[in-house]
Amino acid sequence: MTFEELRTHCLGCHACDLRDTCKQVVFGVGNPKAEILFIGEAPGKNEDEQGEPFVGRSGKLLDIYLDAIGLSRQKDIYITNICKCRPPENRDPLPAEWDACLPHLRAQFKLIQPKIVVCLGRIAAQRIIRPDYSVTKEHGQWTEKQGVFYTATFHPAALLRGPGNKPAAFEDFAAIRDKAKEICTHTYQN
Ligand code: URA
Repeated sequence: MTFEELRTHCLGCHACDLRDTCKQVVFGVGNPKAEILFIGEAPGKNEDEQGEPFVGRSGKLLDIYLDAIGLSRQKDIYITNICKCRPPENRDPLPAEWDACLPHLRAQFKLIQPKIVVCLGRIAAQRIIRPDYSVTKEHGQWTEKQGVFYTATFHPAALLRGPGNKPAAFEDFAAIRDKAKEICTHTYQN
């Protein structure tokens, strides 16, 4: 399956009830050939309206961090969520919704073949890295699984609520840039 075929398949998904309440499936944005994959939790109101992950206030903050380390969301990375549909009132995705959506993320992962995976926030980190992962205690640390390097940092929405963690998040992004320079073949300049 090509990436475009996967997108078309995903946009038609009705595997869980979230599709009945959201406006559209938010598949992902960026370069499917990128070596760095960012994974958030689920689309919010703005993402549901625009069909792109991280376009609201938290997305603007994410773009500032990406810009600071010289990465463009269109060219250098791919961004998606563990759940592709907005949960009502922005509640956390339910385990059944995550299970229904997981095949899409797995298929994206297989086609993108990232070298670095960055989980944005607790929900993504606990689903992708380890169920008891603590972003507060472990952010910025690396875990290697089958040649892929995984890390997590604060969710940008959490940084908007608690700006005290912004410097620590910046250090995490600097570490992502350093890891990319070390292991990625694409030229990451900054
Ligand atoms: N929060 C997320 O986790 N993902 C988005 O796409 C937007 C906000």
